[in-house]
Amino acid sequence: MDFNIGFIGAGKVGISLGKYFSINNLNLSGYYSKNANSAAEAAEFTNSKHFNDLETLIRYSNLIFITTPDDVIKEIWNELKEYNLKDKIICHTSGSLSSSIFSNINTLGALGYSIHPMCAFSDKFTTYKSLNQIYFSIQGDDAYLYVLSELLKGLGNNVIILDKDKKPLYHLANVTVSNLVLSLLEIGCSYMKSCGLNEKDAINALMPLIDNNIKNIKAHGFLNALTGPVERGDLETLKHHLTVIPPSDLDLYRRLSLNLINLSEKKHYGKNYNILKNELCN
Ligand SMILES: NC(=O)c1ccc[n+]([C@@H]2O[C@H](COP(=O)([O-])OP(=O)(O)OC[C@H]3O[C@@H](n4cnc5c(N)ncnc54)[C@H](OP(=O)(O)O)[C@@H]3O)[C@@H](O)[C@H]2O)c1
Repeated sequence: MDFNIGFIGAGKVGISLGKYFSINNLNLSGYYSKNANSAAEAAEFTNSKHFNDLETLIRYSNLIFITTPDDVIKEIWNELKEYNLKDKIICHTSGSLSSSIFSNINTLGALGYSIHPMCAFSDKFTTYKSLNQIYFSIQGDDAYLYVLSELLKGLGNNVIILDKDKKPLYHLANVTVSNLVLSLLEIGCSYMKSCGLNEKDAINALMPLIDNNIKNIKAHGFLNALTGPVERGDLETLKHHLTVIPPSDLDLYRRLSLNLINLSEKKHYGKNYNILKNELCN
């Protein structure tokens, strides 16, 4: 099937996906956005059209991506429902929402999907360059699940097919490894700043540890990448940490260290970590 792909919302994801699709020879119809200048800018960057109203975008597109903020998707859907949507495929790119947000879509002759690019889109005009390495997840109507999945695989991407009930858990996974890791790294840097370093020096000093950790996980998996005082069973080191850690971080330290004990027990079958566990649970 030949798709003409239209975007509602000319922001970071809309522009990046449009550019990625167009350089991979998929047909773009163009953009509609709240601000006409955004749509025009996106159209110019992706060599497509900009539309002044939803009705024209719908007429020229059979695959429509809603790439507005999550909170606006329902409002856009309510507007779309006013038009003829027969045989249209409607997608949004939210990681947390499912296709259920497209209420009564089948009665309108259309099909609904959530297609989530697993990437942090930080820039409208450069992020498209790294999209060939990412995974997409797809959830939605069975009718075009295979076709859409093959479309993305044809670009060289890996695709995960999800049940709609799993979307919140799936999104939790994404947020944990990106946003929450950012938060954890910032907390680690704050301890370094308390040692007298400025933020830039703290980041630079810790970065080789961060980089190697990620590289080791990627190359060898969690158990083989595991290092540190918990794995070694260094009780005195753990006690020192517990005397200096800010009280507000104590629960976090305990929870993460107990998980490290779980991993260490799997790695060193038979080694006893009970003393460490008791120290953490007291
Ligand atoms: N950023 C990420 O890393 C990322 C990653 C994966 C998925 N997502 C998902 O992708 C979607 C878009 O995120 P984003 O980061 O691209 O957001 P964004 O950069 O803020 O872009 C959203 C765009 O939507 C437009 N918009 C807002 N209200 C509108 C309306 N009522 N009608 C038409 N257009 C409207 C705005 O256009 P104007 O410029 O015209 O005001 C804005 O440029 C979200 O569902 C998000 O969860 C984001």
